[in-house]
Amino acid sequence: MAVQKTKKIFICSSCGNESVKWYGQCPACKEWNTFVEYEPEAETKNAKGWSAGKISPEVPPERLDMISTDDEIRFATGFSELDRVLGGGAVKGSLVLIGGEPGVGKSTLMLQICRSLSQCAGKVLYASGEESKRQLKLRADRLEVSSGNILILAETRLEAIFDTVEKEQPDVLVVDSIQTVYKSSLSAAPGNVTQIRDCTMSLLQLAKSSGIVVFIVGHVNKDGELAGPKIMEHMVDCVLYFEGERQNAYRVLRAAKNRFGSTNEVGIFEMGQKGLSEVVNPSEAMLSGRPEGAPGSCVTCTMEGTRPILAEIQSLVAKSVYGNPRRMASGVDYNRAMLLLAVLEKRAGLPIGAADAYINVIGGLRIDEPASDLAIAVSIASSCRDKAVRSDTAVFGEVGLTGELRRVNALEQRLNEVARLNIRRVVCPEAGGLPLKTPEGLEIITVRNLREAIGACLEQE
Ligand code: TYD
Ligand code: MG
Repeated sequence: MAVQKTKKIFICSSCGNESVKWYGQCPACKEWNTFVEYEPEAETKNAKGWSAGKISPEVPPERLDMISTDDEIRFATGFSELDRVLGGGAVKGSLVLIGGEPGVGKSTLMLQICRSLSQCAGKVLYASGEESKRQLKLRADRLEVSSGNILILAETRLEAIFDTVEKEQPDVLVVDSIQTVYKSSLSAAPGNVTQIRDCTMSLLQLAKSSGIVVFIVGHVNKDGELAGPKIMEHMVDCVLYFEGERQNAYRVLRAAKNRFGSTNEVGIFEMGQKGLSEVVNPSEAMLSGRPEGAPGSCVTCTMEGTRPILAEIQSLVAKSVYGNPRRMASGVDYNRAMLLLAVLEKRAGLPIGAADAYINVIGGLRIDEPASDLAIAVSIASSCRDKAVRSDTAVFGEVGLTGELRRVNALEQRLNEVARLNIRRVVCPEAGGLPLKTPEGLEIITVRNLREAIGACLEQE
């Protein structure tokens, strides 16, 4: 029986699940109100079915062992941090998506990399649907970006952007942002899933067929998802997320997907008067201005990808003035922090059940690693007991629900990094053989559970 083709389908803007029926809750990802109508005009128009006709490929298939990878051309973006996250520079003919919350600095980063790309790649076309030429010029002046090789186009219609690409033949195209551009042939509004999907597809074809490096800027909504389409993620070659608090100077660039490199790399930037600059020594930056001998502060070493970074965690435990204690966690997962509070109360006997607790990671860094559990717990205990952790001490380890401590990965790298920054004592779990070579002058205190760790950190003086 022939299946009747429906013109309209519905698509989940969170996971990309397609359906002929609308759902309030997506059956696949269980998100609510994510189904939107999708008109697959552009896709079905030419669809002839599997058996209809034959088309020879433009390039015949090639033996795997004969395919050469030497011709992969990469361009330096001018930021070694960004180049590293991209896997060694922007690859010719690739499509890169830069996602981030509004105001985090995506447009600033794009404009800044134009300078280097215009020198090493060639002509750069910056198509902005968000700002006028004048606004971009003012920003470029502030960022000291100026080149005869950078073209600015204030345009939101994709057809007009493509027309300019054809006339100007740029080597790099920046589309800022995908939510503002639209194809006038589609009836959907800009920012709609239909538009985003079709525009991304066209940009992908452009990148692959012409060898232009295409950067797409995409806004991320409050939940941290690329507004609308997760579906964009599997079309592009690289997905980079630009994270950080707007009020805070530090920004972290993370690769969520990379067809040309590892997703383990992160880049760290600082937003200043003259735009973004690289933070070459993030550990030092994160620890600068640390209060000495203040209760509630604890240093840990977290792995950002393959890179160890020192971070300071601060906590404040105070008597609650209301019946319901207030809890706040910034820079660490809220639920993880609540779990640690409960473990501290139950397993280490800290009277914090009815107290307010505030936890914060300094510098706007976000730590998702379980290895930072112990430092969070120690900082809470330090504030609760009003006793400072010695300032030359770093702490790491994963805390289990019974208060036991679990070993951490990349121990050797962490130890080397703490030693580099003049930390003299490390409190960490016992489990797992210590690396044979520990840095000179570093005292390592191994502990088995939370009580012992708190004792080692707070009671030794
Ligand atoms: P922007 O790049 O416009 O963010 P996005 O494109 O991600 O929405 O960044 C805007 C923010 O950056 C704004 O809050 C001001 C700040 N900023 C600086 O602090 N210094 C600078 O030199 C520039 C250009 C921006
Ligand atoms: Mg912008």
